[in-house]
Amino acid sequence: MLKSVILIGGDRKGTRFRPLSLDFRKPLFPIGGLPIIEHHIQACTELKEVQEILIIGSYNSSEMKSFLDEVQAKYSINIRYLQEFVELGTAGGLYHFRDQIRRGNPEAFFVLNGDVCADFPLRQLYEFHKSKPKALVSILSTEADRTESVNYGCLVTNKVTGEVTHYVEKPNSYVSPLINCGIYVLSTDIFPAIANVFYSRGESGDWNGNGIKDEGHIQLEQEILQPLAGTEKLYTISLNMKWSQVKNAASAIYANRQALELQRKHYPERFTYKTNCTIIDNVFIHPTAQIDDTAVIGPNVSIGKNVVIGPGVRIRESIILDYSTVDSHTLIIHSIIGRNSKIGKWTRIEGTQVDPDPNKPFAKIKNLPLFNQNGKLNPSTAIIGNGCTVSSEIILLNTIILPSKELTRSFKNEIIL
Ligand code: GTP
Repeated sequence: MLKSVILIGGDRKGTRFRPLSLDFRKPLFPIGGLPIIEHHIQACTELKEVQEILIIGSYNSSEMKSFLDEVQAKYSINIRYLQEFVELGTAGGLYHFRDQIRRGNPEAFFVLNGDVCADFPLRQLYEFHKSKPKALVSILSTEADRTESVNYGCLVTNKVTGEVTHYVEKPNSYVSPLINCGIYVLSTDIFPAIANVFYSRGESGDWNGNGIKDEGHIQLEQEILQPLAGTEKLYTISLNMKWSQVKNAASAIYANRQALELQRKHYPERFTYKTNCTIIDNVFIHPTAQIDDTAVIGPNVSIGKNVVIGPGVRIRESIILDYSTVDSHTLIIHSIIGRNSKIGKWTRIEGTQVDPDPNKPFAKIKNLPLFNQNGKLNPSTAIIGNGCTVSSEIILLNTIILPSKELTRSFKNEIIL
């Protein structure tokens, strides 16, 4: 029996995702037509050994309830949300909820960062972990460009055994092209190693964690993986695969593209349409959306629940969230349209493609500051917040609109507060 843990952080994380995170908790933002972490859940349900999924975060339980009810009904697996009362870090939450993780004696458990988008090769990772009897942790890694690698956890390995001999989180200078994908298998024997971090902080208590305060914030990467490197307890399997993280709006567009491709490959039944509009693959359209037959949609578009798209509309590389309407002959490119927004006729909403090469297996999404030195907005994905009304015949270029605004004129490179 195996378990999975999905780490989703809390309110203090996901700030780069604003204004989208004002209406949506980042882990629940839809990419490829599913909330980000539903992709993780879907992948876990593909392994019959995984019998429970624990989602750990510090969002209020009430904010996760309807999502949990939905996935619990959809997948025949036990899914629970465990709320940290303060953010405990990527290992602190695992330690705090160790009894829940160990209940039922799982042989091991997966830990998945809630903000990654990938084709989670969990079976391969688990088989690899089993082949390393001494391993406490096996990390899934992939290769990044030399310049991009320093933004991630970098691994130096023994190429024969797969042992991680050296691990540095976001190094100051180049260490290795192999990066940590935030997808792991952990042995349940990891808990004493986490407890050990408290000893080094001068806490009292025994090796099994008894008497140790649970409130500690512990980072898996720096405080557990880094010291385990070179002790024959940390291994990695490196796969050349598409992988990205959802950090900001631009990265959501990139992840949407990736998720659509993966979903199309594994779940083609999700890609049947009730509309006769022109579709340029890959496009997800929620079955309740109404799309005029003369619209042209795609590539890389996700359209949510009850969206209405009028005649002659053209949409590409965009996400249109639930209950929005787009009136006739409007053009939407590299944009995210928030829930319940109304876009008029003959309007143009256009953002800039900020990720370099859509076909690269690994692409660092440029994390440009919002403004340049002249105080102007840097090129970005266009975002129309929740509940906005955009008049007909206006142009919005690289514009970020906060929720509930009414726009009656054109804007370029601006944030409308
Ligand atoms: P940044 O570039 O700073 O975001 O670092 P990172 O990509 O390494 O991400 P980070 O380590 O902050 O988070 C990895 C995953 O763990 C994300 O899905 C976070 O939401 C989640 N996470 C981060 N901190 C916590 C925490 O305190 N508690 C829980 N439960 N999850 C967390």
